[in-house]
Amino acid sequence: MIIMGYIRCNNRAFYSLLIRIVLCAVVLKEGSGNSLKEGSLRRGSQQMDDKIHFSSRDSNTAGHSLISCFNSQHSSHHFSFEEFLAGQLTTRSIRMHRIWWSNRRAKYPLGLFTHLSINRIHMLKAQCLSYPRGLVAAVVWIPLIMKARNLTEAGEEQQTHPHKHLSPEHLDTLQTASGVLSSLFRIIELPGADGISDLDVATKRDTATSSSCTLRLMMVYEMVGDGQMSVLMPVNALRNIAMLAVDTPLASMVDVDLSVSWSLAGHVMSNKTRAADLELRAKRDRTGWVIPAWDVDKNIKFAWQNHVADATLAVRPESKLMLQDMWLKRHEIMPFAYERYKLGHNGTNYMRWFQSQAEYPVTFEEGYEPWFFGARKYLPLYDARFRGHYYDKIANVRNIIRNKILNLVVIPDVWFIHRPHAVSAQNNLYAQATQRASPMDQVVQINGTSIEPRKAYLQFALALYNEVTYAMNEDRYIPVVQSSVRHCRQVLPWWKNDYH
Ligand SMILES: *[C@@H]1O[C@H](CO)[C@@H](O)[C@H](O)[C@H]1NC(C)=O
Ligand SMILES: *[C@@H]1O[C@H](CO)[C@@H](O)[C@H](O)[C@H]1NC(C)=O
Ligand SMILES: *[C@@H]1O[C@H](CO)[C@@H](O)[C@H](O)[C@H]1NC(C)=O
Ligand SMILES: *[C@@H]1O[C@H](CO)[C@@H](O)[C@H](O)[C@H]1NC(C)=O
Repeated sequence: MIIMGYIRCNNRAFYSLLIRIVLCAVVLKEGSGNSLKEGSLRRGSQQMDDKIHFSSRDSNTAGHSLISCFNSQHSSHHFSFEEFLAGQLTTRSIRMHRIWWSNRRAKYPLGLFTHLSINRIHMLKAQCLSYPRGLVAAVVWIPLIMKARNLTEAGEEQQTHPHKHLSPEHLDTLQTASGVLSSLFRIIELPGADGISDLDVATKRDTATSSSCTLRLMMVYEMVGDGQMSVLMPVNALRNIAMLAVDTPLASMVDVDLSVSWSLAGHVMSNKTRAADLELRAKRDRTGWVIPAWDVDKNIKFAWQNHVADATLAVRPESKLMLQDMWLKRHEIMPFAYERYKLGHNGTNYMRWFQSQAEYPVTFEEGYEPWFFGARKYLPLYDARFRGHYYDKIANVRNIIRNKILNLVVIPDVWFIHRPHAVSAQNNLYAQATQRASPMDQVVQINGTSIEPRKAYLQFALALYNEVTYAMNEDRYIPVVQSSVRHCRQVLPWWKNDYH
């Protein structure tokens, strides 16, 4: 876990540079697809209908409701690393900028939700394609570093002109990111659109669309005070936001670099009896189903890793012993994080899984952090105080098990694969970018003391996790959640009503 965290931090370190490079390299037109922009909210509904083409009025209303409940709690204060270390909840300056809300109905009762930075959109596309006709809700995070000096002035203007405090460069970044996401949304709504002509797409639409997910894509930006905050992704706050867009009875948080086996849609969810049974037990017995996850063995040549990933996903559930061979005989895959952080998934018991045709309970060990699905309304929220990649998920799972929020069992016939992180296309750019020092390695002055941000962050994360586990052990733990999410869950129609 520690090592993985380092790698991930380093990946993010050059993120703000990379985003410019990636965005500048892609020239795309903005504005197509079914999307809602916060700026358009003020226009009359007549105009809005002209601009947004929804076939279903419901999806139009849902997107608007989400943007407006979310942004009603927005604060323009952009937090600094120092304020973060002092324990302040830093996520109020996250603003919902735009939503692309598919008007296609999701076919299955399980919705996935995920978060990402914009350089991972190819991962989102792969995830979406792995769950055809299923719902995937994703939130893309764009950090904008603000200049510290004119804070107050910008804050005052905020009320009347939400965008006025953003610099031309910020607006440019948002516009370009928006174009990239519009393009992704269009491709996912019309798979094949990147390869064949518009005419073909139009005539093949019905069959084509059945090969991708029903996507709800949200773009948020966060005004942050410094470089450290721009690399410490507010992962848990983003998970809470992504979950807001899920309205299926079952839900699952999934990291964006995971794709799900063919069997989830093709075998489990498309079996109406099975899907109804899962839903019933999720609600009645608070069952949660852990989905085992695989990594591609790092000794596989990079060019082959995606092939191995695809082969892993395509295995039929009745032949899952093939996965055991792929792991132990052919050394192509291994249980997720097997070499980096064994505890994280050991409680899933992969050896037992190979032999099991039925579900079985997990063994809890400290540090266990599997992915799972359960009844949407029973999933506890994520503690938004965690930023970066330490303890964010572990705290959530520990709470679930310790407080008996869900009874976790392992599902025998669905699995994830962790896709290799592509470096090939941007190889040279990456190499240059990584040579830049991360803001996490540049010594800063806090309270008159010189500190290394990375070290201070790790200390902070560990102290927070200790505080959280202590509270759990005393049965008084409640995750700290941003007010925008609490508010939206009180007003959005698909969140505010109880079951039954
Ligand atoms: C800096 O000092 C202030 C005032 O003593 C304190 O409240 C704050 O927590 C300190 N910040 C850090 C990061 O230790
Ligand atoms: C802050 O605002 C003042 C007055 O509007 C302006 O002159 C100055 O250039 C601004 N500083 C920055 C860093 O934008
Ligand atoms: C669908 O699921 C039910 C309940 O798990 C099972 O009994 C049945 O065999 C499944 N049908 C198919 C076609 O797999
Ligand atoms: C992993 O799980 C197995 C089976 O439950 C258990 O026997 C073993 O002690 C665990 N290993 C570690 C390193 O926790």
